[in-house]
Amino acid sequence: MSDSRSAGILSIGSYTPKRVVTNDDLSKIVDTNDEWIFQRTGIRERRFAREDEYTSDMAIEAARVALQRAELEPKDIDYILVATASPDNTFPNTACWVQKGLGMGDIAALDISTACAGFVYALELAAALVNTESYRNVLVIGAEKLSSITNWTDRGSCILFADGAGAAVVTKTDGRGRVLCSRNGARYDYDALNVAAGGSRMPASHETVEKHMHTIALKGRTVYKFAVQKFEEMAREACQRGGITADQVSLVVPHQANVNIIESAMERAGISMDRVVINMDRYGNTSSASIPIALDEALAAGRIKRGDYVLLEAFGGGLSWGYNLIKW
Ligand code: UT7
Repeated sequence: MSDSRSAGILSIGSYTPKRVVTNDDLSKIVDTNDEWIFQRTGIRERRFAREDEYTSDMAIEAARVALQRAELEPKDIDYILVATASPDNTFPNTACWVQKGLGMGDIAALDISTACAGFVYALELAAALVNTESYRNVLVIGAEKLSSITNWTDRGSCILFADGAGAAVVTKTDGRGRVLCSRNGARYDYDALNVAAGGSRMPASHETVEKHMHTIALKGRTVYKFAVQKFEEMAREACQRGGITADQVSLVVPHQANVNIIESAMERAGISMDRVVINMDRYGNTSSASIPIALDEALAAGRIKRGDYVLLEAFGGGLSWGYNLIKW
């Protein structure tokens, strides 16, 4: 039976691993220091998963919190979307591991591979699935163990990445957490950001392992410039499509890549930094997990109230990007 309600976020949950790694700790691995890392990125410390703690384990922890807050049981979920660039393995996909870990039935389980833009892609798809009325409750997760695909010999990138997970339950609501509009995009750019080996293009070999080709390669400056421009463009477009001004945006929850990227873009978009969530100082860049972790913290801190316009925006490898404008 169709109803006039539409898809919204019912609850959020997150999980960050216990092990804290400071910039000083990294300076023992590569030639770097706390001052350089903090000034260039805004990162002070990050969390790394245990060796025997995998992407799906963190995803499951975050999902348990979101389900409990939604007052739902795993059996109430009928679709799982996991955004990740660091899946447990190629297949079964990480969503299948989550399905098993939460003891769910034989429901749809899909991984989304758009790197750091994964969560905003997944949220748009979840809202669409719910609005088609084919599915009732969609579990959306962003989860990463980037420490397992980081090049620990490259000081230009290894200082950025971290581990963690965040989850959302998306369902038809009475207007709460309503996804007003979203847009996702992508433009091929291999050199800017990639993991070269491990797929059909470059299967694993001794050489690929020796040359660290199973880890993230990054052209920092290229991605930086792209990100500033995209963040500004997306903020403007979201406001225009949502029929609001930049002043009416209560809170922006951006992908936690680099505080300098965010500050430049927000200044250009006319959004003051007191309305922007920043937590990369404590968690680093957790790729597709960064937005739901930051959103969870913002909710816990009472920074979001009913009726607020909340903008989520992200960019990542692909290159890929996207936003969701939500009326809380
Ligand atoms: O989620 C999407 C993933 N990607 C990103 O978000 C990356 C976006 N880009 C960035 O965040 C920045 O470009 C970085 C933080 C990665 C790099 O900052 P930058 O200001 O673009 O530095 P740079 O790469 O231009 O390097 C400047 C200098 C170089 O030295 P010289 O050539 O000027 O002597 C680097 O060798 O800083 C040096 N450098 C470092 N020094 C100390 C690079 N990495 C480090 C380091 N510690 N960790």
